[in-house]
Amino acid sequence: MADFDLIVIGAGPGGYVCAIRAAQLGLKVACVEGRETLGGTCLNVGCIPSKALLNATHQLHEVHENFETMGLMGAKPKVDWDRMKAYKQDVVTGNTKGIEFLFKKNKVTWLKGWASIPAAGQVKVGDTVHGAKNIVIASGSVPSSLPGVEVDEEAIVTSTGALSLPKIPKSMVVIGAGVIGLEMGSVYARLGTEVTVVEYLDAITPGMDGEVAKLLQRILKKQGLNFTLGAAVQKAERTRKGVKLSYTLRKDDSAHEIEAEVVLVATGRKPYTDGLGLEAVGVEMLPRGQIKTDAHWATSVKGIYAIGDAVTGPMLAHKAEDEGMAVAEVIAGKHGHVNYDVIPGVIYTTPEVASVGKTEEQLKEAGVAYKVGKFPFMGNARAKAVFQADGFVKLLADKTTDRILGCHIVGPGAGDLIHEVCVAMEFGAAAQDLALTCHAHPTYSEAVREAALACGDGAIHA
Ligand code: NAI
Repeated sequence: MADFDLIVIGAGPGGYVCAIRAAQLGLKVACVEGRETLGGTCLNVGCIPSKALLNATHQLHEVHENFETMGLMGAKPKVDWDRMKAYKQDVVTGNTKGIEFLFKKNKVTWLKGWASIPAAGQVKVGDTVHGAKNIVIASGSVPSSLPGVEVDEEAIVTSTGALSLPKIPKSMVVIGAGVIGLEMGSVYARLGTEVTVVEYLDAITPGMDGEVAKLLQRILKKQGLNFTLGAAVQKAERTRKGVKLSYTLRKDDSAHEIEAEVVLVATGRKPYTDGLGLEAVGVEMLPRGQIKTDAHWATSVKGIYAIGDAVTGPMLAHKAEDEGMAVAEVIAGKHGHVNYDVIPGVIYTTPEVASVGKTEEQLKEAGVAYKVGKFPFMGNARAKAVFQADGFVKLLADKTTDRILGCHIVGPGAGDLIHEVCVAMEFGAAAQDLALTCHAHPTYSEAVREAALACGDGAIHA
């Protein structure tokens, strides 16, 4: 008899959520995690610590930029970097301990160590082989490498090293204007570091709505971030002062160099499946290193499933969580489902950026007739009161049926505002449904309603 109904490999947001849901559904569950603490990349060295640093440095920015305007006078606080990192670590510990508590509460066994799969139905941790009726691989991802740029986590760092630099650097080059590059670039720019973001493409935040990308770049530039776009990085060399980065501009192939104390490599992540023994057990892989799965997260080997960053789709904690819950339902004999058309994406800069559904570029390419309802936060009383009126809400709806197809927000609390649109999309709502819903005044959410009104007879405050 198997020791467990389910063994989940990896306790990141995909794995731990899967384990808890499966236990709630009555299965005997274990979760294998080799780190000292639960929570995976997200809680330990990703989403959560970066949000702590973003919060602390945002407060600092407010003190320097806006306090006097609000009549808050007095000495400006100095940064104690070690204390800021200690605060960040407290936030991490509070959250990882929280998962430990949830495991105990739900009777999920934490198998401490690194797992491998010697055969279908078996998971090996240390010297012990545990029997498992089902296995879910939720082993996540690691930063992808860049040829010519050797990470040492000292002067050439990934997001992990960037969260714990021994001191605030005077200068930093960020390679990649994606989510990590812009969030960590913002943190250090607010701490006084001279930050330059070097990006291969001609726009920041690839895949995001074009108007959003342009506005965000303008706003971040105003906050002190420098951008070099259309630049292919060739190599990075350690120097006495830090790192010399060589790149060529794609438009004319001209060669350039830039020197900085620290280089952050933020050029994406790749699935992490090392050491699991997947090849030997016969689990089929995709050419880019992801585990191949069907629509119900089943791999090519019966009883083995995979979710999260280790499979295809956006590498987002909440996408992994949804898959974790859904695959637990499937294994428990229920109907798990993830709607991949309604997965929000958020960048936690100030202002925040959030999007869901189709971009205008995607609708154009697909030949869909659409309309745009756009509302600037300049017309939103709350946003003006907190000095964040630069952004907008852009709602995209089907031209004929008015059904909401996408939404893109740059503005205060965008990461929370987007969810009313997500719920509306899940219900197949029209823009008019949002427009006819009473929104409390004064809230940022009124801007979403105004964008919906703009899809019809017009916004009131624009
Ligand atoms: P990303 O895929 O968001 O951005 C990588 C950027 O690097 C792209 O703009 C790409 O064009 C650029 N790039 C690639 N090769 C380059 C080169 N040789 N020279 C210059 N630029 C180059 O990846 P990122 O920011 O590293 O994040 C990794 C993953 O983690 C993403 O999937 C992201 O969604 C996720 N993440 C999500 C967060 C959130 O939801 N707020 C926060 C942090 C990470």
